[in-house]
Order: sequence, then structure tokens, then C-alpha cells
Amino acid sequence: MKVLLLNGSSNLKGCTYTALEEIAKTLQEEGIDTEIFQIGAEPLRDCIGCGGCSKGNGCVFRDDCVNEFVEKAKEADGFVFGTPVYYAHPSGRIMSFLDRAFYSGGAAFRFKPGMAVASARRAGTTASLDAINKYFGINQMPTVGSTYWNMVHGNCPEEVRQDLEGLQTMRNAAKCMAWMLKCFEAGKAQNIALPDTKKEVSTNFIR
Ligand SMILES: Cc1cc2nc3c(=O)[nH]c(=O)nc-3n(C[C@H](O)[C@H](O)[C@H](O)COP(=O)(O)O)c2cc1C
Repeated sequence: MKVLLLNGSSNLKGCTYTALEEIAKTLQEEGIDTEIFQIGAEPLRDCIGCGGCSKGNGCVFRDDCVNEFVEKAKEADGFVFGTPVYYAHPSGRIMSFLDRAFYSGGAAFRFKPGMAVASARRAGTTASLDAINKYFGINQMPTVGSTYWNMVHGNCPEEVRQDLEGLQTMRNAAKCMAWMLKCFEAGKAQNIALPDTKKEVSTNFIR
């Protein structure tokens, strides 16, 4: 079993990464493989709603790492999306990234557990978590909780390491993710089928 963790900050080893590292370490202790995928600091396109991805070949923009992430997502069993808080919302780049990843490759994530993590100096974490959790909600993904909301506080990794409750929350979230993944494996072994959900009706509120 493998969990793919996304660092939605352009700081490769910053506060968000520090939280993800704590989660990854705990998952590994639970026998689960992990990979931290970096969005990085290179220019990243937002979704322009062209519909080109409906042809089934991924996002039409091929000069950044969104399609690469979706390919990795197909092989993963669970996801952690970590974001720094910018003006009380997730980073613009993680929203652009996830819009394109989910619009072009939502099936790679479906029915797999997802966990949102927010990292802030002080405030805006719950609004940021709400925004990230919406990708899970519309895509039939169980969300992973913890003993507090999934957030850490600090303006640098050293400060995050002093946020002992925040790190405890990360470890407990990882344990909940591991438990969920093991339950899903046990379900598969018992031939419990995925839910037979339907998307036959789609109204735009004008008819
Ligand atoms: C543009 C910008 C906006 C920010 N807005 C907030 C904010 O609204 N609330 C907050 O607590 N911290 C805010 N911060 C601080 C970061 O969220 C915080 O330092 C975070 O832990 C950085 O994570 P990183 O090291 O992974 O990039 C902001 C930082 C930047 C660069």
C-alpha cells in the first residue's frame, strides 16, 4: 500500500513539508510506503476550462507536473494534500494544481482516502482545510481526520517542530489513514465491491 503526499508549497523543505514528513514517518511505521511529491516553484498553469482533457489524454498543458502526478495517483492507495495558508486560503498553486488534476484525472483518486493538511503562521487554517476537503467530497473519497483539525503552526520548520500538538495531530492522522487503508484491503479480500454509484442525471438548474 502506498500513500502519495503532495507538498503544495514552493518551499521544498518548509513548514508544510515538515508536517508531511511527520505523517510519512508514521505511515512507514505502519508498514505503508510513502512518496512526497513537490509542486515546486516553477510556473504552474491554472485550469482554463478548455475541456481538452475530456479526450482522455490528461491535461493539455504538458510543461508542468500535473499529468505526472495523476499517473502516480493511479498507483497510490491514499492521498495527503498539504498546503501553506496564504491570506486565509490554500496556496494558489495547489488550487490550480488540484483543479487540473481532478478535472483531467479524477478517477485516479476516486474511492481512496484523502487527508488535507494546512500549515500557517497563525490563522486561516480551517478555511484552507475546507477548500482542500471539497476535492474529496465531490469525488467519493473518504476524508481522514485526527484528534484535532489537521494543521500545524509556525513560520519556519523549527517553529513547526515546536508545535507538539500539531505534530501529534499529524501522527494521529497518519494512524487513522493507515487504519482506513488496512480496512479497505480487508474489504477487498472479502470481495466487497466498490459502491455502484450512478452519474446518469446532470442538471444545470435551468431545466
Ligand atoms: C503570501 C502569503 C500569505 C500568507 N498568509 C497567511 C495567513 O493568512 N495566515 C497565516 O497564518 N500565515 C500566512 N502566511 C504564512 C504561511 O502560511 C506560513 O508561514 C506557512 O507555514 C508556510 O509554509 P511553507 O514553509 O510550507 O511555505 C502567509 C505567507 C505568504 C507567503
